[in-house]
This record gives sequence, C-alpha cells and structure tokens, in this order.
Amino acid sequence: MLQKIKETADFLRGKVTDLPKTAIILGSGLGNLVDYMEDKTVIPYAQIPNFPISTVEGHSGNLIFGKFAGKLVMAMQGRFHYYEGYDMKAVTFPVRVMKELGIETVYVSNAAGGMNKEFKVGDVMVITDHINLFPENPLRGKNYNELGTRFPAMTEAYCHDLVKLADTIAAEKNIRLMHGVYVGTTGPTFETPAEYEYFRIIGGDAVGMSTVPEVIVANHAGMKVFGLSVITDLGGKDITYVPTHEEVQEAAVKAQPVMLALITEMVARS
Ligand code: HPA
Repeated sequence: MLQKIKETADFLRGKVTDLPKTAIILGSGLGNLVDYMEDKTVIPYAQIPNFPISTVEGHSGNLIFGKFAGKLVMAMQGRFHYYEGYDMKAVTFPVRVMKELGIETVYVSNAAGGMNKEFKVGDVMVITDHINLFPENPLRGKNYNELGTRFPAMTEAYCHDLVKLADTIAAEKNIRLMHGVYVGTTGPTFETPAEYEYFRIIGGDAVGMSTVPEVIVANHAGMKVFGLSVITDLGGKDITYVPTHEEVQEAAVKAQPVMLALITEMVARS
C-alpha cells in the first residue's frame, strides 16, 4: 500500500508544479465548484495509477488542481462510495495520496437525509461529529506507522476552529447554517422510516452514504477536516416519503450557491 501511495503521488507531482495544502472532496451536485477554479490541471481518475474509477450517475471522476479563492487547491470531482462495491482501502486511497502530497486540510461535502426536526430541505449543515455505521472501518488490518497511529483519537474528527470560522462567515453572510452529527451508512437503500427514527435516537441529525471513511483516514493521517452536508430530504417515523436519486441531486444543486459562498470564504480565510 505504501508503495502504491508513493507511486500515485509521484505521478501527480509530475503533472503539477505547485502543490496545494487544501483538498476539497466534492459531493453530490456540488461539482460546480470547479467552474470557479482557475489555472486548472484536470486529471481523469482513469489516467491516475492505482486510482479506482467512479461509476455512479452524477459523479464524474477527475482530480483537479488549480486556484480557488486565492489558494492552491486540489479538488476531487466524484468520490468512491462503499455501496459501489469498492473496499474501504479503495474508498480512502485518494485521501492517503492527499497526505503524501502535503495536504493539511480536507473539505468534504455530501448530500444527506435530515432527521433533526428543525431541518428543512435545502438546509446546509456543518458536520460537527459523525457516527460510523459502516460495517467496516477503513483502518482495519495492518497499521502502517508511517501513515498514522494504530488507535487514533476521533474526539475532534471535524476541526473545531473551522466550525467556528464557518459560523462567523454564516453570520456575516446571513446564511442559515445548521450544526449536526452525520450518520454514515453503506446505502444504497435510503432508510426506512424506522431507520431514520433510530438514527435520530442514537444522536444523528443527518444520514448519508459517504464521508465517514474519508474522514477517519484523514484524521489517522493527521489532516484537519471540515464537512458540509446539504439536506436533500427528510426522514422520520411520520415521514414515509422516500426520495429518488434525481430529487436528491436536484435539492443539492439548489443549495449550491450557499455551499459555494461558504466554502469560498472558508478556503480564503483558513
Ligand atoms: N439517506 C441516505 N443517504 C442520503 C439521503 C438519505 O435520506 N439523502 C441523501 N443521501
């Protein structure tokens, strides 16, 4: 694995002259952030040695290096989901490569179903913590001390200072910004009403099918994380309506301007 990470990082170093310290993993419908990047170097995943290939509709697969909000960044346009059949090492491989390239802060975004009764469709939620309900931890198996410690703490999986910065920016810009705990599950099924209710009872505010594996690995590697969820649908025992993938995408696209405004300022100021 160490060899593969180095090989992929070397390949990418050969493609870009200046390496960024910030990475952004773009979730559902948020790919438009790349339209605001300048001096782009676009590298399709298919050309990157050891990279898995994204398969799900609506997620194109490119690694994009360039300038965003005045900073050098690398953006993942399309991520690898566990439900697609990739194993956890594949899902989190790009995060390992980020660390090897010198990334210090990882921004993640996703679409999620809201269980918190205060939430409305289209709300943006800062992820303050998560509950890992994936059946497998990406760190299971041999630990490479070069990559991180065997038993990493997860007490500040989402950087508290970055959450505060988001609150400051939201207040300045009059953005309704929710806080919450993200429950990560495998999918690809959306939840039954009883499952949404269960996730609420155990302390979740929103549920989705990504992010948790990448965040665990980013923490293992000692990178700071900031996460945003777009609430694309609501679930609970009194809500029997379950969204389609298209409706989730549509709701995510509607929240794009707010997400973009927040992330732009966050990157500019951090
Ligand atoms: N459940 C799980 N994942 C999701 C949801 C949901 O309701 N909405 C968007 N991603």
